[in-house]
Amino acid sequence: MRIALVGGTGELGEGLALRLGRDTGFELTIGSRDQRKASECAEAYRRELRRHDVDRRMDAATNESAAAEATVVVLSVPPYYVTETVEAIEPALDSETVLVSPAVGMSGHDDGVRYNPPPAGSVTELVVETAPDDVPVVGAFANVPGARIANLDERIEIDTPVVGDSSAAKEVVIDVVSELDGIRAVDAGPLSNAAAVEAITPFLITLAQQNEGFVDLGVKFV
Ligand SMILES: NC(=O)c1ccc[n+]([C@@H]2O[C@H](COP(=O)([O-])OP(=O)(O)OC[C@H]3O[C@@H](n4cnc5c(N)ncnc54)[C@H](OP(=O)(O)O)[C@@H]3O)[C@@H](O)[C@H]2O)c1
Repeated sequence: MRIALVGGTGELGEGLALRLGRDTGFELTIGSRDQRKASECAEAYRRELRRHDVDRRMDAATNESAAAEATVVVLSVPPYYVTETVEAIEPALDSETVLVSPAVGMSGHDDGVRYNPPPAGSVTELVVETAPDDVPVVGAFANVPGARIANLDERIEIDTPVVGDSSAAKEVVIDVVSELDGIRAVDAGPLSNAAAVEAITPFLITLAQQNEGFVDLGVKFV
């Protein structure tokens, strides 16, 4: 199975590429609006993996080509660009594609970061509104700290709630995550829970900003 990281050149994309590259055998494509940038990032990720004794293939493509080849497509772009990105890759999507949204709308204030969802209710629901009707959409990874997972030397133990209205699509994502060391995907119910899940992230960032010693927090449900 192939996983495409659309916008895989950014912070979360790097973390996911490195963890997926180290811990799983899935075929991986780093997507970007710019083929050259995708290739440079894929090469840098391969170098980092080699430093950790993992020599594996990592492909690079424009976002649309990356999505066309993949079964799981992670929309790892800032929330404001989710709509145009889904529209750009739309010809590559079909009912066999699982479209994954990790994006969270947030705004910064003096006393912390606030959840700032789009009118759709959540970014995941915005993706559902934008994508073709037959493409299953899953919200996942919204609360996974990108910079922290990009450090392969760090042992992590975090959960990521997974939301969506297609049980089959959620299962695909949960199965992918189950191969990652230290990250557990938990079924968080239907799409209507997406706002609750996305709201965890600004809350965690606020905790980290307001309390010394809290950096790149994750959550664990025990
Ligand atoms: N960073 C985290 O720790 C983290 C954790 C959980 C969830 N998230 C969510 O994951 C998503 C990605 O986060 P990130 O921190 O990786 O973002 P980022 O580094 O700011 O950006 C990711 C990629 O988005 C692409 N991009 C930038 N502007 C764009 C535009 N106008 N149109 C289309 N693509 C554009 C860029 O790729 P190209 O220039 O190569 O096209 C960029 O490398 C966000 O929605 C964020 O809310 C992030």
